[in-house]
Amino acid sequence: MDYKKYITIVEDWPQEGIRFKDITTLMQDGPAYKKAINELTDYAKTRNADVIVGPEARGFVVGCPIAFDLEIGFVPVRKKGKLPREVIECDYGLEYGKDCLTIHKDSIKPGQRVVITDDLLATGGTIEATTKLVEELGGEVVGLAFMIELAYINGRKKLDKYDIFSLMTYQ
Ligand code: PRP
Repeated sequence: MDYKKYITIVEDWPQEGIRFKDITTLMQDGPAYKKAINELTDYAKTRNADVIVGPEARGFVVGCPIAFDLEIGFVPVRKKGKLPREVIECDYGLEYGKDCLTIHKDSIKPGQRVVITDDLLATGGTIEATTKLVEELGGEVVGLAFMIELAYINGRKKLDKYDIFSLMTYQ
């Protein structure tokens, strides 16, 4: 499927010079969203995932239906101050800005095979921080799955020890 025709490019958002890739127009189309999730689910299946982890907010939109399909758990990674129980945290840099991600301390069991999902791979900062959180808890990151990869930013470079799957790539 040509998923790109469902993505809307928004010029100069959230700041000048950024060509934002909006996945909401893909999600609005039931069959396209379902097909995209099916492909990502098949990938997670080949990696024998025990659990899916996704960073807020769009990592939930991608990761929750995959976990649901595979009947495995979903673990949210959230920005600091959002999770209610004991967390570990990791600072990271974004394509535009800085932040801190957290995960519940008891959410991953040592040795669990984890596939991390998100809508988009840009600098890789968000996912690198997420891998650190998972690994600090003893999880094994067996795959990274994205809807979109921005190849021109080359976030893949800082994640080269991981298996990466993306539905579409922008050069
Ligand atoms: C966006 C996007 C990815 C991340 C990609 O999320 O959904 O999670 O940035 O960028 P990176 O590869 O350079 O880290 P954002 O932090 O804007 O959060 P949101 O999904 O809550 O809007």
